Amino acid sequence: SKINLKDYKKPSFDVETVDLNIKLFEEFAQVDSTLKMVRQTAGDIVLFGEALELISISVNGEILTAEHYQQDDDKLTISNAPDEVVLEIQVRICPQTNTALEGLYMAGSGDDTMFVTQCEPEGFRKITFYPDRPDVLAIFTTRLEADKRYPTLLANGNLVEFGELVNAPDRHYAIWHDPTNKPSYLFACVVADLDVLTDSYTTSEGRDVKLEVYAKSADIDKCDVGMQALKDAMEWDEVNYGRPYDLDRYMIVAVSQFNMGAMENKGLNIFNTACVLSSPETTTDSRSFSVKAIIAHEYFHNWTGNRITCRDWFQLCLKEGFTVYRDQSFSADQQSRAVQRIDDVATLRAHQFAEDAGPLAHPVRPESFVEINNFYTTTVYEKGAEIVRMIANTLGPDDFRKGTDEYFRRYDGQAVTVEDFLSALSITDSKIENFIDWYRQPGTPVVSGHQSYDRAAQTLTITLSQQTRHVSGFSAPKPLPIPVATALFDQDSGDIIAERMLLLDQATQSFTFENVSSEPVVSLLRDFSAPVQLNYDYQDEDLAFLLKHETNGFNRWQVTQMLVNRILLQGQGSKSSPQVYLSALAQTLPELAAEDAMLAARLLDIPSAQELASAIHKDYDPALVKAQREGLYQLVADTLKDQWAVLYKQLPMQSYKDSPEARGTRALRNVVLDMALTAKIEDAAVWAQQQYDNASCMTERFGALKVMVNHQVASADAYLADFYERFNSNDLVIDLWFSVQASADTVTADTIESLIAHTDFDWNTPNRVRSVISAFTSQPTALWTAEGLSLYTGVIKKLDDANPVLASRLLQVLARWNTLAESHRQMAHDQLLELQKQVSSKHVLESLNSVLGAAS
Ligand code: ARG
Ligand code: ZN
Repeated sequence: SKINLKDYKKPSFDVETVDLNIKLFEEFAQVDSTLKMVRQTAGDIVLFGEALELISISVNGEILTAEHYQQDDDKLTISNAPDEVVLEIQVRICPQTNTALEGLYMAGSGDDTMFVTQCEPEGFRKITFYPDRPDVLAIFTTRLEADKRYPTLLANGNLVEFGELVNAPDRHYAIWHDPTNKPSYLFACVVADLDVLTDSYTTSEGRDVKLEVYAKSADIDKCDVGMQALKDAMEWDEVNYGRPYDLDRYMIVAVSQFNMGAMENKGLNIFNTACVLSSPETTTDSRSFSVKAIIAHEYFHNWTGNRITCRDWFQLCLKEGFTVYRDQSFSADQQSRAVQRIDDVATLRAHQFAEDAGPLAHPVRPESFVEINNFYTTTVYEKGAEIVRMIANTLGPDDFRKGTDEYFRRYDGQAVTVEDFLSALSITDSKIENFIDWYRQPGTPVVSGHQSYDRAAQTLTITLSQQTRHVSGFSAPKPLPIPVATALFDQDSGDIIAERMLLLDQATQSFTFENVSSEPVVSLLRDFSAPVQLNYDYQDEDLAFLLKHETNGFNRWQVTQMLVNRILLQGQGSKSSPQVYLSALAQTLPELAAEDAMLAARLLDIPSAQELASAIHKDYDPALVKAQREGLYQLVADTLKDQWAVLYKQLPMQSYKDSPEARGTRALRNVVLDMALTAKIEDAAVWAQQQYDNASCMTERFGALKVMVNHQVASADAYLADFYERFNSNDLVIDLWFSVQASADTVTADTIESLIAHTDFDWNTPNRVRSVISAFTSQPTALWTAEGLSLYTGVIKKLDDANPVLASRLLQVLARWNTLAESHRQMAHDQLLELQKQVSSKHVLESLNSVLGAAS
């Protein structure tokens, strides 16, 4: 059933303290809890609970029998309770069979098992009956008891006691107390056998914090990158937001079975191994970079999420949007700002714009949902971050800092809303409140514009207008405040003659620049100052000019992407020939490769097939898009053929270093290698083999393997076999081995079938499922066939019951079936209707209804 934002009601009871006693046994766990509750308003005590076996419940010492409460599938209600209540509850749960990976679950198999929790958003109700909602904050004390073969017993806060059981010598226990008031979704515990990497950090307030990263002993040597990132993040948050850490201990635990990236549980983060482990030999640079970003993200949640939390799950973007903005800013300080922005915008455009263009479009703050897990989306996260970024840029650094200081001052310890956030940020500028519409309105605004130059008056007028598609089920779109960072370039000198932030907040607006002595070239949306599509009346030559003269590295990339889009989306009414693009690249590349290899590597980006597809609204033909994409890629490779050998030699392999320059060199070398093979340079296959054989790190080795597989180099199979042999004890590397095959240019549904049949494939490990199934979606020509789709929907059906969170996320990728050309469209529709009959989780059903809604 649907839950609506407008129906929000405060809980009738508050919880002051919770005492949990979790006893783990071979086949089940017993959870005893004592809740001290106090009435806030009239009404019942509502305790959520799912998949729990209730053993006993008492109120103020009186055992309740079935006539004292109402129980249904997901909650237990007690009416007429006194104003002060001590509730004692005993339940039994079964973490050993919990494949949904929510609540308390067992990860691993055989003798290699551990128990961890995932409570956000509504997992705590699978551990015990509780008012499991983010606006109920309480002080938790947790006792864990287990067999001694699990020496690691962790929970939130500070360790108070650790000991053996007198009457059961092979069992032991630990008691943890968390002094911070927190909602149940931030609860965590771990029962495992792990090694630990320790370090320490002294905060700006002089607090000595113990830092601990827990992992399996085989992985403990891959924890230093994460540890360093944690210390960097702690310092960064003090410097940039004045936020020191507030407990004496900060723990991170790596687990190989996890639905998402990581989780910010108070003082006890739990991480997907893929998002915390990193070593040069086993982890690519881009993965390692995202490890640092995710460590920082979860750390930043301590203030934006934990100390100030969300009133209800509609406000998810309050913590996620702000925290993503913070981790993006942190990452920008660790590498070239331009490249960081390129990466963030590329993700936004590829995934969020596509989501906003299809049947799953929703506002950054949704107004209703059936299953909140379905709303951990790129719209909530990434578009949410873009809104905070627009506000920060509109205010400028000093006023933004005043606003965030005010936010932390006013709301520390509370569960608040997006309106509260905006009201704190607008203390220096009330216009900031107008950004609320960005949270309410789905759809990506399209900003169109043109310029007119008046020689006599020496003025340039830029006229911009905005339009957002009307998403059904929402009110007609209104104009939004859109900051457009603009610079004017002198045609002759290439110098900047004016820079201004234009605020487009009406349907159409004109902006005039004075004292402009000749018609300039205008660069707009610098650093992607707003999450919009831009259609400006450019000549290809203007874009080539900007590629040469822009000082903003992001915009240099952006103009290459505009040129590429103009060439590739010919059928969509654009009419560019590739000549201007090719000669601009030829001119720019050699110099840029020497100056900033990472940026140079990005300039050769051609948007992915999925991203290009998101601009096509009907008669989408995956084969045509693939052919166009490959055609352009071939043309670039052939046109610049002479450069590849030169560049490849200029980028020699060196011993491993983790510096921006070294990462740039490796990135560009991999791109050049791919280009060289595409251009059929004779030696290129040998370069690839040598790069693989002599690799100093995974970026080099995997880069070489990937091009060999994609170009079907004769030795590719031998190298795939070698890669498997070298790394078969490392799950994360074997994920790479699966994904390089599942995303290969030549992949078919049969390839996927055989990868699924491989002994190392495991339905219970989301990373492994994604390494095959999500990788497959990068080849739309294979996915959107009868065989491809029937395989894909079969996977969703298979996971629907076992892991509905994962199943539903996989399904969301099919959202744009409705844009396919008729023959494919009909086939996809039939398969989705068939799937609808076979699934039962509310997660998958909600997504499927939205996805199918596109048909009507
Ligand atoms: N709050 C976590 C993060 O942003 C994500 C956890 C979401 N988990 C889920 N099952 N939906 O890092
Ligand atoms: Zn987050």
